[in-house]
Amino acid sequence: MSKALGWCLVCTCLLIPLVVADWNILKLSRNGFKISLKNYCESWRMNVELHNIRDFEVVPEECIEYIGKYMKSTQYKVDSERAIEECLVYLSTSCNLKKDGRDAWIFDIDDTLLSTVPYYKNNQYGGNKLNVTSLEQWMRKGKAPALDHSLKLFNELKSRGIQIILITARREHLRSATIDNLLNVGYYGWTRIFFRDTANEFVSVKKYKSDVRREVMNGGYRIWGILGDQYSSIEGIPSPRRTFKLPNPMYYVS
Ligand SMILES: *[C@@H]1O[C@H](CO)[C@@H](O)[C@H](O)[C@H]1NC(C)=O
Repeated sequence: MSKALGWCLVCTCLLIPLVVADWNILKLSRNGFKISLKNYCESWRMNVELHNIRDFEVVPEECIEYIGKYMKSTQYKVDSERAIEECLVYLSTSCNLKKDGRDAWIFDIDDTLLSTVPYYKNNQYGGNKLNVTSLEQWMRKGKAPALDHSLKLFNELKSRGIQIILITARREHLRSATIDNLLNVGYYGWTRIFFRDTANEFVSVKKYKSDVRREVMNGGYRIWGILGDQYSSIEGIPSPRRTFKLPNPMYYVS
């Protein structure tokens, strides 16, 4: 890259905060076409879901409004519902259940069964840096609403005799608040629920969740699938037969 072009980019970056209001008719015409702020933020969100963008600490400032709109939108509901429908298609077409009490399915909790959108709504939809104290204060109230489509899948799995296993990165001290919250919004009848204890607080969520999975599989369960909103809930060894990801552009857990 030439020095002049480099400086040009630096200047553009410095100017962006000043021209956010004008983004609708934006520039970025390096490749000969103009893009809007909506194009830019939609592409950011898409690349988060594709797992090209990782480890982001906050939603980019210029996309806070866009992400807020998405989280409140019909599109978010439709995207989530589609993920659930695909789980159901998979169950009906590709799972040869043994029905011996060892068929199992794993769920994540936050933004998979319960929605943290009411909390993030007051925190710029992920535009503010994570404050664990305030997030846990909110979780302790046990007021997180259910994600309706996930509840539908949860009940469908139960009715098919599949054991439901919940693995959350929430810490042990939130156990009773979380269980009350789940019961209050209609989730009951799971087989196991795992919280992070102090021993695994310092390993990554991905490692913690994989380790729990190994324990569950060593206990004789066949994991037919996982539903989560983070790659750290669905990646890692041992892997299940299938994984399904719900959209979540508000935060990244590694
Ligand atoms: C985090 O949240 C707590 C509780 O609401 C608050 O007292 C504290 O000031 C916050 N910390 C930061 C860095 O904002």
